[in-house]
Amino acid sequence: MNKYILILGQSTDLARQEATNWLGSSPNKILETGSNFLIIESESKAKEIMKNLGGTIKVARLLDKLKSLEDLASFWIKNIPLSNEQKTNFGFSLYDGSHKEYSIIQSIALDIKRELKSKHKIRLVSSREEQLSSVIVTKNKLIGSELVVIKKDEQWILGITEAVQDFAKYGLRDMKRPNRDDKSGMLPPKLAQMMLNLAGSERNKTILDPFCGSGTVLQEAMLLGFEKIYGTDVSDKAVNDAIANTDWLIKTFNLKIKPKINKINIKSISRSFSNEYFDLIVSEPYMGDARFIQRQKSVAHLDKIRNELQELYNDAFEQFKKILKKSGKIVFIFPIFDIHDKQLHTLDKQIIQNLGFELVGKPLIYHRPNQKVHREITIWKIK
Ligand SMILES: C[S@@+](CC[C@H](N)C(=O)[O-])C[C@H]1O[C@@H](n2cnc3c(N)ncnc32)[C@H](O)[C@@H]1O
Repeated sequence: MNKYILILGQSTDLARQEATNWLGSSPNKILETGSNFLIIESESKAKEIMKNLGGTIKVARLLDKLKSLEDLASFWIKNIPLSNEQKTNFGFSLYDGSHKEYSIIQSIALDIKRELKSKHKIRLVSSREEQLSSVIVTKNKLIGSELVVIKKDEQWILGITEAVQDFAKYGLRDMKRPNRDDKSGMLPPKLAQMMLNLAGSERNKTILDPFCGSGTVLQEAMLLGFEKIYGTDVSDKAVNDAIANTDWLIKTFNLKIKPKINKINIKSISRSFSNEYFDLIVSEPYMGDARFIQRQKSVAHLDKIRNELQELYNDAFEQFKKILKKSGKIVFIFPIFDIHDKQLHTLDKQIIQNLGFELVGKPLIYHRPNQKVHREITIWKIK
């Protein structure tokens, strides 16, 4: 079994829940939880873990825990993969430490560089931040030679980075797909991936996105290895975009899975599928006209939209009750409108509970600075 440190990205709670749900199946185990990291035991390789988790930004092999920084230099030198021919880059990231502690580690790193310089070609990579980003780690070839240092209680947790988030690949499937739909508001691929993992780690389930839009959830489901994938949407344009985007993905990533995509209104979707057809429903629904909402100066103008959306979501869950297996799960986004510090929620738990559903865990929030629509991510099962 390998022991790894998972460094979690910005939406920490969401990322932690994603990793927990994905790892849920034995023989994986969570050994320790910190403010922005997890320590886990897993049979998977670091790269495999990284590929699966949208919310984890770094995976490091856990090496040791030290009580003080006194022994750090000798420990560190042993773990730098030196070569006699090639130049070696090394660096470090400090998590949860103070600025003073960062300076102490930086001076240890400079001492190490001085000591090794006479015999080896060596370069210390640092940035303005106390943590090296995925971009810096990748571009400076620091996989295997970045030390991850986490201060927790009175201990220093140490690891060596074995994988970082593949920013280029995310960028490719976000920006390069043939049909982007900026008007409906794009679901970030990382978030789609996190939602799919919140539903669990089994990939043999039949999965539906009934508001598939341009197909982000479908794309991520394909890349995660789901094989029975369905997408539906009321709009011809969305259906055509989703087909074009998933066809492009099949070609670009050489995949064998083709999702079934059809034009269907959510309000009557149970006419198109037999009862209890799906194991999982994962969806970001229609959340109102993104551009209109972005222009508003007060939440008062959004009451009407909120009511319309609640009606739509109510209709959707009524339909889900029919087409979802009794053991099934729903991962669904409810928008929150946040304008001048006033928030208008579209999730009314009581309404959905009255339809016979039960909330699993607490809703998780995903938002980005300056966005007036926040996303409340919920997991539901049938009562
Ligand atoms: C926010 S978009 C989904 C975006 C998608 N997650 C993506 O990133 O591509 C919402 C979609 O809901 C669809 N929609 C709106 N009302 C619907 C209804 N009654 N039935 C089915 N789809 C509907 C819209 O056509 C739109 O494509």
